[in-house]
This record gives sequence, structure tokens and C-alpha cells, in this order.
Amino acid sequence: MPREKLKVLLVEDNPTDALILRKKLQRDNSFDYDITHVISGEDGIAALEKDMFDIALLDYNLPRKSGLETLREIRKKEIKMPVVMITGQGDEAVAARLMKEGAFDYLPKREGYEDSVPLMIRKTIAEHRARLEKEEFQKEIALKKSELEKINKKLMDLDRMKSDFVANVVHELRTPLTIIKGNVDNIVEGYAGEVQPQQKEILSDIFKVVERLARLVNDLLDLSKIESGKTQLKKEDLDIVELAGEAMNGFEKLAKDKGIGIKKEFSKSRVMINADRDKLTQVFVNLIGNAVKFTDKGDVTVRLAELQDEVQIEIQDTGLGMTKEETEKIFDKFVRVVAEKKEGTGLGLPIAKDIITLHKGRIRVESTPDKGSNFIFNLPKL
Ligand SMILES: Nc1ncnc2c1ncn2[C@@H]1O[C@H](COP(=O)(O)OP(=O)(O)OP(=O)(O)O)[C@@H](O)[C@H]1O
Ligand SMILES: [Mg+2]
Repeated sequence: MPREKLKVLLVEDNPTDALILRKKLQRDNSFDYDITHVISGEDGIAALEKDMFDIALLDYNLPRKSGLETLREIRKKEIKMPVVMITGQGDEAVAARLMKEGAFDYLPKREGYEDSVPLMIRKTIAEHRARLEKEEFQKEIALKKSELEKINKKLMDLDRMKSDFVANVVHELRTPLTIIKGNVDNIVEGYAGEVQPQQKEILSDIFKVVERLARLVNDLLDLSKIESGKTQLKKEDLDIVELAGEAMNGFEKLAKDKGIGIKKEFSKSRVMINADRDKLTQVFVNLIGNAVKFTDKGDVTVRLAELQDEVQIEIQDTGLGMTKEETEKIFDKFVRVVAEKKEGTGLGLPIAKDIITLHKGRIRVESTPDKGSNFIFNLPKL
């Protein structure tokens, strides 16, 4: 196998030492050495200006420009070439200094030192290449990192644009919907002339659909506001026992019509917390609404317990229940796992979760198919 060529710059003022070294390297098989020998620091620098070298062996004790000065000048040139200094005997302090100034290594010139030069060269070249590779690698990583950061920023900008767009569109939909609802209502009420029973029926179907659309638009608006960080909680001191009771009252008729019970298990008659009244009502209405919606027999039970720093609320039903896979998805937007015939858009739970998270609380669900579900959420009192 042909040996790799290695260009060596030898800066050595002593001709005998230089000759011995040259012979030593010629007899070594690791590389095909191409040695340029100069006898002063000045000549060394001049050689480096003309040619590229893989390694420099630089004598410390040189006439005129010293080894140290020469080393400094080489390092200033920003050439990535390792420099091994050949120092005098017992120059330990000097050696440390040389390393600090950028020498790759040093070799004290004691009797027979030339024997260790080939090994020193091999070791230096291998280490130097490994360092270069590492530097290259780090540079590449840094580059990739900055590229990724740029892409990430672009994506975030796009995401913000998309959210703003959705928020604007949804907002613009609200006014026309309100107008349609109002006008349909006016016609049904007979303000625009007499309405036939059949017409009334069609109009009331339209009214229901428009109402559903309006609810969807409101939910989407809520979500987009929360997700863009624009929702500010209007916190006040409130009695959560009372708030839960009020929300439950709203479902009594619906539950009764379906033949299911709606029960309270409150450990206290009053628990004060600091929270946003409207937003928490929204959470209760969705969770109790879901429980009633997905239960056909049995009870919906609302439990409330005061813990040390928080209050824990459970909304348990004896309804359809869900599998584990289903419970893992339902807090995502537009996910609906039960039969399509039940009304809803799948935004209630993501909104509830966002509201609870805004309050620094947490929510989870335990559920068994055909047995029922239990939605449990905790809220800090303060
Ligand atoms: N108590 C429950 N029992 C069984 N399944 C439930 C229960 N609560 C929620 N789910 C499941 O989770 C899905 C998501 O609930 P979520 O409240 O987000 O949406 P929705 O009630 O379908 O619609 P929306 O709340 O927007 O009117 C429901 O469609 C249903 O499949
Ligand atoms: Mg719901």
C-alpha cells in the first residue's frame, strides 16, 4: 500500500540534529515524509507563506527570532497546522508556556529523543485530525441548529397568521348569524305577516340550525382566543358550591325528561375560591351537559370536596362510558367518539381543559365502556 505523504516543516538550526531527525523519519514507515528543513524562525515563516505543511517541528532554541516568537507568528496566521516544539532539557515551565501559546505538544531534546519523534508525529496527526473533524461537526451542528431555529420561527409566524385568520373569520361570522337568527325569529312571531303551520315548522328547523352554527362559532372563538393567549381571566372570590349548584339546576328538566337522576354530594356548604365565574360555569355546563347527554339510565352525580389548597370536583355518570384509547383523545379538538346522532361539535372538552389550565388546575377522566365516566378536576383555591 502506498504510504500517505506528509509534509513536514523542520525548523532546526543545528545541522547534526536535523540530519539525525531526517534519517530517523526516512526509516519510519508510517508516512512518506516530505521534509523541508530551514535553520531559522524567519525562514520557517517564509516557507509557510509559500507552501502548506501537515506538521511543523520547531526548535525552541533558535538564533535571532526565538522558537516562542516563531510559534506566536505561526498561530497569528491562523493556519490549522499542529506545531510540535523541541525544547531543551528540563524546560518544563517553558513547555507549559508553549502549550498556552498554541503549541500542539512538546518534546524535550534529551539523548536519543529522535527515537520518539515518529510516534509523536503519528499521535499528533491523528489527534489533530480528530480535533478538526470535531470542529467541523460542531460547526455543522451549529449551522443546522440555526437553520432549524429559522424554520421554527417561520412556522410559528405562519401558525400565528393562521390563528389570526381563523379568529377574524369566526368573528366576522357572528354578526350575520345574529341577524339571521333575529329575522327568522321575527317571521315566526308573525311580525312579517301571517305564517302557515308548515312554514313555521320549516322556519323553526332553520332557527335550530342557525343556533347550532352560532354555538359552534362561539366555541371556535373561545378556543382561538385562549390558544392565542388573548383570554384574560376575570378572577373574583366566589363560592364554588353555589356555582356548581346553579349549573346543575339548568339540567334538572333535561335529566328528568330522560328519566335520569341528578345528585349532589358536596362535603361542604360553601367553599370560596378565586376564579373566573363565567369561564367556570362554561366548564360545569359542558361536563354536566356531556354526562346527561351520554347517559340513558341511572344518575349523574356531582361531587365536590375541599382539599388543603384546592377543591376537587367530580362529575360522574352511569352512561355510555369510553375505552382507554377514546379517553386519551377526547380533550383534542373536534374529537367525538360516540354515535353521531348525539349533538355536539367536540369542542366542549378542549375548551374546558384550556379554562382549567388557565386557572392552574388539572382535569382527567376515568371511564369504563357501558358502565360510565367520571370527569375529575382540581382547582387551586387562590
Ligand atoms: N360523560 C361522557 N360519557 C361518554 N362520552 C363522553 C362523555 N363526555 C364526553 N364524551 C365523549 O367525548 C367527546 C368530546 O366531548 P366534547 O364535550 O368535547 O364534545 P361534544 O360534547 O361532542 O360537543 P360540544 O361539547 O362541542 O357540544 C364526546 O363527543 C363524546 O364522544
Ligand atoms: Mg360537550
